[in-house]
Amino acid sequence: MSKLTAPRGTFDILPEQASVRAGVERTASELLERAGYGRIETPSFEATELFTRGVGEATDIVRKEMYSFDDGSGRSLTLRPEGTAPVCRAYVQHGMHKLPAPVRLYYLSSFFRAERPQAGRYRQFWQLGIEALGSEDPAVDAETIVLLATILATLGVTGVRLRISSLGSPATRAAYSEDLGTYLRANAPRLAPAVRERIDQNPLRAFDSDDPGTREVMAGAPRLLDRLEREDAEHFAAVRELLTRAGVAHEIDPTLVRGLDYYTRTLFEFTSDALGAQSGVAGGGRYDGLVEQLGGPPTPGIGWAAGIERIMLASGEHPVTVAAVDVYVAFEAGRADAFAALTALREAGLAVQMELGGRSLKGQLKQADRLGARFFAHVEGGSVRLRDLLAGTEETVDGRDLVDHVVRS
Ligand code: HAM
Repeated sequence: MSKLTAPRGTFDILPEQASVRAGVERTASELLERAGYGRIETPSFEATELFTRGVGEATDIVRKEMYSFDDGSGRSLTLRPEGTAPVCRAYVQHGMHKLPAPVRLYYLSSFFRAERPQAGRYRQFWQLGIEALGSEDPAVDAETIVLLATILATLGVTGVRLRISSLGSPATRAAYSEDLGTYLRANAPRLAPAVRERIDQNPLRAFDSDDPGTREVMAGAPRLLDRLEREDAEHFAAVRELLTRAGVAHEIDPTLVRGLDYYTRTLFEFTSDALGAQSGVAGGGRYDGLVEQLGGPPTPGIGWAAGIERIMLASGEHPVTVAAVDVYVAFEAGRADAFAALTALREAGLAVQMELGGRSLKGQLKQADRLGARFFAHVEGGSVRLRDLLAGTEETVDGRDLVDHVVRS
């Protein structure tokens, strides 16, 4: 029979990696919980309509990257490609607008996108994300960005660069898209075919192109940042001032675009030069119209998401912390006595392993050594030959005194 492997673009998380991940997740959730964020987890799949309405029909995510399926009763469901629309759905569904604003939520979940796999880009991946709902105060924008900068620095992500921009209001953006479309059509022959095809659907994505001709055209293109309404420009200036006061270095990038349609006003992205082509570690922005678009009351919101795998890639190899073993319980005959010792030691809160591999006594000692165990407890009926592997001493103790003996040393 041929060997089966995990689908392309997916991966198994084996114990050594799981312990590194657990460390990343613990650090991040502690930082967020101290800042008032509470964890939320939504289902792995949602009604497809949530993403077509929330993320946007014209986005690559909705057009090409969703794993959608019929659930057998004619309903279309989709494995969540991102977390913002589901969190806003939950916010509306559970009447969270009645809670004191801003409602601060975070998640640590897996997401699914049918993208072309490469280093740092997978079809199932994990994100740490936050959403702060109910306030349009620029201090909330700055707070979320500062938190992200702190988390990335604490986790040892190197070569970090933060770019920010503002998209203004949906009306400003719509008027700007029209003008940009006109400009692009006037320069159509110099554009890459893929960009030309998307002028009507999503002209802003032309800023994302690597094609030299397109880049030349885009260098002369009108900029949304120059056309912000006064209120939006003031909001953006306030966010930048707060970031500067917090000592968070940032660059204004008027060409910044992100692949989701719900953004308004503040938009930002963290990249790391420790990553290759997929240099985006985290990104986010404001989405002041999304909750209303999903049937809720008008509610401003802002958030971000960071890729766990990209954080791990950009922070280098972490030492793997293997849980220390206090006692290795060995036996030759009398499995039941050994098992009783194992149970008693574990009940006392110790980290204990027992021989389960059918090794010889010599093999068992080797295994205890390999695990870095402090004690080697050879159970022989009612007594135990207890060897302190650290001190190199050995004594015989009564089986009933074993726990006491180990705990006291
Ligand atoms: P996003 O930029 O699509 O934003 O994804 C955020 C992060 O998830 C990326 O910066 C990257 O680290 C990671 N990521 C995305 N796709 C993949 C992939 N195929 N493989 C590995 N990692 C990936 C969002 O998802 C928005 N919901 C963020 C947000 C929250 N905006 C407001 N609130």
